[in-house]
Amino acid sequence: MAEYEPLIIERAEGVWLYDSQGRQLLDGVSSLWCNIHGHRHPHIDAAIRRQLDQVAHVTSLGQSNPATIQLARRLVELSPESLQCVFFSSDGSSAVEVALKMAFQYWRQCPEPEPGRNLFLAVGNAYHGDTLGSVSVGGVSRFHAMFAPLLFEVIRGPCPDSYRWPPEIRDASQLCAHYLQHYRELLERFSDRIAAIIVEPLVQGAAGMIMHPRGFLRGLRSLADEYGTLMIADEIAVGMGRTGTLWACEQESVCPDFLCTGKGLSGGYLPVAATLTTRRIWDAFLGEYSQSRSLFHGHTFGGNPLGAAAALATLELFETENTLQHVNQMQNELQQQLERLRGHPHVGDIRSQGLIAAVELVQDRETQTGFGWAERKGHLVCQAALEKNVWLRPLGNVIVMMPPLSVTAEHLRQIIDAVEYGLEQVFAPTAA
Ligand SMILES: Cc1ncc(COP(=O)(O)O)c(C=O)c1O
Repeated sequence: MAEYEPLIIERAEGVWLYDSQGRQLLDGVSSLWCNIHGHRHPHIDAAIRRQLDQVAHVTSLGQSNPATIQLARRLVELSPESLQCVFFSSDGSSAVEVALKMAFQYWRQCPEPEPGRNLFLAVGNAYHGDTLGSVSVGGVSRFHAMFAPLLFEVIRGPCPDSYRWPPEIRDASQLCAHYLQHYRELLERFSDRIAAIIVEPLVQGAAGMIMHPRGFLRGLRSLADEYGTLMIADEIAVGMGRTGTLWACEQESVCPDFLCTGKGLSGGYLPVAATLTTRRIWDAFLGEYSQSRSLFHGHTFGGNPLGAAAALATLELFETENTLQHVNQMQNELQQQLERLRGHPHVGDIRSQGLIAAVELVQDRETQTGFGWAERKGHLVCQAALEKNVWLRPLGNVIVMMPPLSVTAEHLRQIIDAVEYGLEQVFAPTAA
């Protein structure tokens, strides 16, 4: 906080942010990966206003309301077939906590209980939120190491990184099978103790937009089935069209037992998150009052009608504005634009998926050695990009580009121009 100097955003429109210094900045990270259709979209604004004329808040404990019921129905319609039930919360971390608690409790209440299943299998370098349960399954040591004494035990597999390969791998085509073999061994070893596997499908966001080899998600689902455990897909960062399909899981035809969504679910307007699950899980929580099979978990604002109205409008826009088609066109444009940066001596990797792009800065391309975190190279590049009126927020040495899904080719060019300028400024040869 001693060095904290936030930009003060006074208003916004579409992809543009207007700050208190009178600058107009392109929002290159969608207000932390959640603004989907642009700021102040008239359709979402109107939906919230309409809802405001009805009721602003109704608890989900003993009550409900039409907007929230409609949103639950719509999410079920739009999700992989066996996901039939929805639990609302207010943020992504809580959506993950709910999935963890449901999976844990399921094994105690299912028709043939297996109470020994009290461990989660998580992915190396995972990020699932900042509450203690979600931090326990997370694995980014810079964020999580401090809290280690407070966390529960987790079985952790390798990070299925497509950039930094394990030393024994010589060829990209071996990567997926290699990582999956590790997960198979862990499942074999802890076969009757794992309550669920939790994974960020396709892309590990906070770890630095680490991209999985194709087939990893599908392979993990098959392993979960083979070893009779459950799978939690954390789609909080990658869901809502970000990767080019509404859900990232769709790209590998995977149906998880739990799907967590948040961030873009309300178009990035209001705190809305949800944990979707199957009838099989739902059924395990049914019973007489005296059996006490409830999930004891309820947030004050879970299922809030204003948020539900924003989310319904957000989902409607995917149809009326052909958002997914647009993302697929823009992802090609983005990939082409990114090629300009490939030759830079400190660009180690450029990776993208849908409208997620990452440029990883390295000291040495050959050895893939990164810069020390204290050098703040990513931050410096993004600071320089601000001079070109583009707002970006890095993850360590990784420059993240995650603009609203409504961006145009021209906006993408402006973002890449700004990154190119930032690289020039930060890595300018020093005068002799
Ligand atoms: C994959 C993933 N899971 C969970 C979260 C936590 O969401 P929230 O910040 O809304 O609690 C995030 C946030 O960045 C995320 O990227």
